Amino acid sequence: MSSRVLLKKLFQTPSEFIDKEVTIKGWVRSVRKSKKFSFIVLNDGTDQDSMQIIADAGIENYEALSSMLTGTSVSITGKIVESQGKGQSIEMQAITGEVIGEVDESYPLQKKGTSLEHLRDIAHLRARTNLFGAVFRVRHALAQATHQFFSDRGFYYLNSPIITAVDGEGAGEMFNVSTLNAKDLPKTDKGEIDYSKDYFGKDVSLCVTGQLEAECHALGLGAVYTFGPTFRSENSNTKRHLAEFWMIEPEVAFADLEDVADLAADYIKFMIDYAMKNCSKELAFLHSMPFTDVDKTHGDVLKSVRDSEFKKITYTEAIDILNACGEKFEFSTEWGNELQTEHEKYLTDKHFKSPVIVTDYPKDCKAFYMKLNEDGKTVRAMDVLVPGIGELIGGSQREESLEKLEKRMDEMNMEKDGYWWYLELRKFGSVPHSGFGLGFERAIMYITGMSNIRDVIAFPRTPGNCDF
Ligand code: 4AD
Ligand code: MG
Repeated sequence: MSSRVLLKKLFQTPSEFIDKEVTIKGWVRSVRKSKKFSFIVLNDGTDQDSMQIIADAGIENYEALSSMLTGTSVSITGKIVESQGKGQSIEMQAITGEVIGEVDESYPLQKKGTSLEHLRDIAHLRARTNLFGAVFRVRHALAQATHQFFSDRGFYYLNSPIITAVDGEGAGEMFNVSTLNAKDLPKTDKGEIDYSKDYFGKDVSLCVTGQLEAECHALGLGAVYTFGPTFRSENSNTKRHLAEFWMIEPEVAFADLEDVADLAADYIKFMIDYAMKNCSKELAFLHSMPFTDVDKTHGDVLKSVRDSEFKKITYTEAIDILNACGEKFEFSTEWGNELQTEHEKYLTDKHFKSPVIVTDYPKDCKAFYMKLNEDGKTVRAMDVLVPGIGELIGGSQREESLEKLEKRMDEMNMEKDGYWWYLELRKFGSVPHSGFGLGFERAIMYITGMSNIRDVIAFPRTPGNCDF
């Protein structure tokens, strides 16, 4: 038997294979049987397109091949010929084939469309659909794009820890990690849980960010980026929140907010460009799906984002726009309030109709580590907002003064002890430095047009859901 060829390769360079005999292996999407021949559609997950296979009644193993059910795994050897039909450049004339794994009628992915909600319940199988094949090939491409982008610019990839003793955001939305017996917790004299008896001898959690460790390495290696899982126990049951998501966090020494705002814009543009070059079939398919938030013009929209300057405004300017626009909002737009989703949506979807970088938020809206502006009221923060999604990136220039950082932590009633090492960065050769975090799933949503974050991660974890 000839060796296996991937569909991606066959469709990429079809002329190499015309009149050649090859073997393909994959899962049957459909079989149409007639008296003299059968028509088999097979996909192997490597390409958006499936192979159309004509099996004449006389071939070896015809009975088995022509009666395969949707979902059967199979190996088929045949000759690649130019396609008679429209849309496809090549097809296969089967010579022989072999069923590898059978299915029965209960296989849930039949030809008829299944809802996205149902597909979430069978997430172990959904990678076999055209839709999720497309989403996860784009996800892969964007991960590759990320490493290429940062590596080409001299950033070093840092694997920051997943188990941590500090709350890097100071927001208290952490998952505790413990080996103590929850039914019989050791207690201190004060009646509190005695974490000294726990595995690490202290209260530890899953990371909500890798930023603090990234700062340590940026102040040694110059520029680093993390790309890892991130855990938040915020009880947000929305289409844009996961309890377990992936974040990319670049951190750059000797850089100010403007530097990383430009870096953020370049990174987003690079991802768009990379996806367009490497996943054009996937994007065309996804953008034409009826249930996405976008339509066929999304490719052009992305192209224009790739090719134009990102708009930049301050929080104060954003508030002015919101107050002057005449729109009725549910939440207050008085200076000092957080920008809510409805406000962000107005800015990106209606006012700018493009991504926008909002900077210099009131300090009370943001985390403890951000650099205080001279006005004493705002911090050198930025959020990158994009149409349809809202916040894609959050970042800032970091407070590099030990005195100011300690003062801010005191103001926020933070327990400083566990942060001794973070504070020492400010004591020993402190430098201005800045960075940001991009929510990987939100970037995938933005580029694919998928409207629910649960559909761009393999096995989503959300409040009340942790299957597979
Ligand atoms: O704005 P955030 O909280 O910023 C940080 O974590 C900083 N430490 C980043 C840094 O400066 N190094 O989160 C960054 C991004 C958000 O803009 C959003 O895209 C994503 O992470 N994100 C989530 N994505 C999915 N589900 C959640 N629950 C998310 N929370 C944040
Ligand atoms: Mg944020």
